Amino acid sequence: MRWREAMARALYGPDGFFVRERPADHFRTSAHASPLFAAALARLVCQVDTALGAPAVLDLVDVGAGRGELLTALLAELPAPVRGRVRPVGVEVAARSAGGISWRTDLPRGLTGVLLATEWLDNVPLELARDGRYLDTDLDPGDPLSPADAAWAARWWPAGPDDVIELGRTRDEAWADAVTAVSAGLALTVDYGHLSGQRPPLPTATGFRHGREVPPAFDGSTDITCHVAMDSAAAAAGAGHVLLRQRDALRRLGVDGRRPPLALASTDPAAYVRALSAASAAAELTAPSGLGGHWWLAHPIGLPEPLPALS
Ligand SMILES: C[S@@+](CC[C@H](N)C(=O)[O-])C[C@H]1O[C@@H](n2cnc3c(N)ncnc32)[C@H](O)[C@@H]1O
Repeated sequence: MRWREAMARALYGPDGFFVRERPADHFRTSAHASPLFAAALARLVCQVDTALGAPAVLDLVDVGAGRGELLTALLAELPAPVRGRVRPVGVEVAARSAGGISWRTDLPRGLTGVLLATEWLDNVPLELARDGRYLDTDLDPGDPLSPADAAWAARWWPAGPDDVIELGRTRDEAWADAVTAVSAGLALTVDYGHLSGQRPPLPTATGFRHGREVPPAFDGSTDITCHVAMDSAAAAAGAGHVLLRQRDALRRLGVDGRRPPLALASTDPAAYVRALSAASAAAELTAPSGLGGHWWLAHPIGLPEPLPALS
């Protein structure tokens, strides 16, 4: 079976991994790593709210929301006057639990506010290919690429005959569709990925189970993920995007991994311990070789002026 269909069944079929499992039990995303991530996003939401002139209803949609951990934390971080106007929606194929949030399986449209998708696109099923042919789950070649996939490969991932290409067209389409759901505001996706000229030499497709990286299994027993071609997703969703590393985005939003001054330890030991703990969480979120190396792809839509955090 070709990679995309096998991945779709394994993750989202009747006994699929994400249908049964809680993502936080298997891997650590920025959303799970620290409340500092939600706090930074709350500051960004406030900037969008200001740019929109504080609308009566501010949409806040999380696509691939897991169990609502990020939305719940984000709502708690918003100032009350903004929180009171927010309409939070979690879009999720799997079982849902968090209260105070509307849940649905499809994208709401005509949004005024912020659409978020953290570590969603890497779980959107895709095809793998080599030398102009689709690969099956054993990486054996099959049918030739469709004209659309061949064009994507030629444009975004020129490769030698032995190289495996991870065809990002399905992610491009998913992201472009999500961005069209926003009438005014911001669409933001955060994920691990790569750009033209720096595509990975070896396949990135892998699995996670109970916190460990494992070979991807197609029986629904592991997560299956694959890095995202961020530049092709950006181009598919139209002009006017901002693409930056998480470490830069978070620093602009006030997340600082520097240690507090040692003098604080003697003047206010409790404050020192709190600041040290925040600095260590910030360091995890901004580490260049870890979460800090993830990409933020943002599309401001219909905003009168650039957002301070993204300009
Ligand atoms: C890696 S988890 C990320 C969870 C959370 N956003 C985070 O950052 O921790 C990906 C989630 O996206 C969900 N998902 C994937 N495709 C989806 C789709 N088309 N619609 C809704 N949810 C989807 C999966 O069920 C899974 O819960």
